[in-house]
Amino acid sequence: MNTQRHERSTPSTDNNEEVSEQLSQEHFHLIKTMLYDTAGITLADHKRNMAHNRIAKRIKELNIPCFDDYISYLNKHQEEEISNLVNALTTNVTHFFREQHHFEHIKQETAALLKAGQTKIRIWSAGCSIGAEPYSTAITLYDLQQSLGIRADIKILATDIDTTALETARNRKYPERNIKGLSKEHLNKHFTTACINGENFYKLKDHVRNMVSFNYLNLNETKWPMKGPFDFIFCRNVFIYFDREKQLEYVDKMTDLLKTGGYLLLGHSEHFAAENVKYKTCGQTTYQKISD
Ligand SMILES: C[S@@+](CC[C@H](N)C(=O)[O-])C[C@H]1O[C@@H](n2cnc3c(N)ncnc32)[C@H](O)[C@@H]1O
Repeated sequence: MNTQRHERSTPSTDNNEEVSEQLSQEHFHLIKTMLYDTAGITLADHKRNMAHNRIAKRIKELNIPCFDDYISYLNKHQEEEISNLVNALTTNVTHFFREQHHFEHIKQETAALLKAGQTKIRIWSAGCSIGAEPYSTAITLYDLQQSLGIRADIKILATDIDTTALETARNRKYPERNIKGLSKEHLNKHFTTACINGENFYKLKDHVRNMVSFNYLNLNETKWPMKGPFDFIFCRNVFIYFDREKQLEYVDKMTDLLKTGGYLLLGHSEHFAAENVKYKTCGQTTYQKISD
């Protein structure tokens, strides 16, 4: 039974008019534990309002009247519903060419590898959200190959835990609000436009889409299916959701999948790879693996 329904003022929300009760501390704790056990994500206590709003939206979709009933539903249908809960609670903020310096770096290093005779480049974008990061990489490397007048075997693997974000990425159709970071030149060269129900969309062309494959991967799974080795691994603005123990565990696993000489690219506040003796820092949140 929920005994703490009225302990806080009703959170402001865009979509929870019909779920006016509070997400109790007890339910919040249960959801936090489930999220940590499933996805390794630590939901901070100050995120309770956010959790309320996002779960309220899910409750409405399911036509469930209150959080108590949702928790019972979740317990009964855990296998299917946990994925929807994770989708609801993950943060997918991203944009094209976010932290531009990483794309400059990947362009320069790939050019050097190709000029040195390497023909195969492998990249992994872990926590790719709606695809802006792997597609920015693909655009960069497509343009690079054109400017060098060569065609290499370049493949980008993009993974995420959020199945809704992955669907958006695979569909590669973005409304105006999602094209931040793309220049007019990029839009003209790599996208077509379409107006759907009065809204303008930009659809990525096949030559870039075909360089990227999307797959579901929960970093918290014990076994990761990919073998590597990768020349570059992006894992930006993903580690911030994990505690230190998980961060170090995932970085170790990524290090095993990275070539010696390859690069790990992290988010602007994720500096902990610098402590790892296998890496040397090469500019802003860019780490080169220097030993096995
Ligand atoms: C803030 S977005 C970052 C997107 C992109 N890397 C960027 O920097 O623009 C964080 C992404 O990490 C994903 N994520 C969170 N926990 C994850 C996990 N355990 N396994 C895989 N992806 C996860 C989320 O679904 C979300 O799409």
